[in-house]
Amino acid sequence: MPTPFEPGTMMPERYDLIVKGGTVATPSGIAPADVAVTAGRIAAIGALDGAAAAEVFDAGGLHVLPGAIDTQVHFREPGHEYKEDLATGTAAAALGGIAAVFEMPNTSPSTLSAEALDDKLARAKGRAWVDHAFFMGAAAENAAELARLELLPGCCGVKIFMGSSTGSLLVEDDETLLEVLKSGRRRVAVHAEDEDRLRERLEIARQGAAVAFHPEWRDEETARLATERLMALARRAGRRVHVLHVTTAEEIPLLAANKDLATVEVTPQHLTLAAPECYDRLGTRAQMNPPIRAARHREALWRAVAQGVVDVIGSDHAPHSLEEKAKPYPTSPSGMPGVQTLLPLLMDHVNAGRLTLERLVDLTSAGPARIYGIAGKGRIAVGYDADLSIVDLQAKREITADWLASKCGWSPFEGRRVTGWPVATVIRGRVVMREAELLGDPAGAPVRFWETLAPERADLRP
Ligand code: DOR
Repeated sequence: MPTPFEPGTMMPERYDLIVKGGTVATPSGIAPADVAVTAGRIAAIGALDGAAAAEVFDAGGLHVLPGAIDTQVHFREPGHEYKEDLATGTAAAALGGIAAVFEMPNTSPSTLSAEALDDKLARAKGRAWVDHAFFMGAAAENAAELARLELLPGCCGVKIFMGSSTGSLLVEDDETLLEVLKSGRRRVAVHAEDEDRLRERLEIARQGAAVAFHPEWRDEETARLATERLMALARRAGRRVHVLHVTTAEEIPLLAANKDLATVEVTPQHLTLAAPECYDRLGTRAQMNPPIRAARHREALWRAVAQGVVDVIGSDHAPHSLEEKAKPYPTSPSGMPGVQTLLPLLMDHVNAGRLTLERLVDLTSAGPARIYGIAGKGRIAVGYDADLSIVDLQAKREITADWLASKCGWSPFEGRRVTGWPVATVIRGRVVMREAELLGDPAGAPVRFWETLAPERADLRP
């Protein structure tokens, strides 16, 4: 097959790294090419025969994808380090082929201030294996400050919980929601479940109820109502919103009608699991918010992926210890780990014909970059950060507990056989993971954004 690439024009004497002989996903298409890296950035793409490099990575038989960006993870630090921390969570990411993560604010304390954000950034320095940014949580107490807080370096945007989930963050009434939406202009990521309806229906999740009632308590209407309210409020405020982990068929037409305003995330677990089977098999390990629902919703989410209503796939990595998960429903906490299994599951869906490789790339790199305004990441292009997820689309593997790095030590997908496996993670030109091994020291850095760009990347301003 002829390559659409011209040989690189910026041929230095010697590159730092050449990823050689792979099939590369660039904005021009997916085709054989070499990728050369200098000083952490992509320096050339093409047939680079004869070029010298300090390090050559043989990618023969492998696909070279833009470094995947997981825009929804909960890494529990500070406050709940017994189930995850920034070191173990980012190790799981790197092992799963993920190059960058956006971490959620429902830690303890919640991320509601510049001090809390600085604390997370300081904790990540020298301990994070992948690049990272942190969400600023929205609450009544910081609503007036959000326009300033959202522009702090290392912040990827604002997160609203409209329905209560793990932690204490909640913005439930229209008045405060509108105040938050009017304060600032960056993307607001929203957990859309209607708190009033959750309260009204709490009896369904009474002590002693089976976990299979979880999607009954937090039903379709709980999600649809919140998304409908959110669309109306966001339009009044003139604010772009990103609706996280959409789970129902009923929300899709609503979101499709608001594509000028709203972007959409779905998770691999909602695309893979279905009720009631998942509750029978996994018990409270399948419990998350919003819940895993019946198969008709899963099929609607796949249609929304195929038709472009969905912009991004995030894992909602939300680890809890097995001890916590062993508590009787509904005292068992909601959430399941997923950052390490995101790419294997999606590649398996590619091999099963449910997703194209082009769409996988769009949903895990270009999509996140577009939604959050990430500077210099999200595509394999000259001048961009050399972030690469190098994968073997043919590898047949089983997801096993001994491969998992999350402190929680389990996955709802243990025992699952998949076709497609991450082989290496390259971050700013450094091979951070190869063949299930972490290499070197953790040197993840804060992700940069167009709207808060540091002066040293002024060359990347639009
Ligand atoms: O199931 C969930 N778990 N949903 C959320 O919104 C939060 C998450 C967590 O932090 O445990």
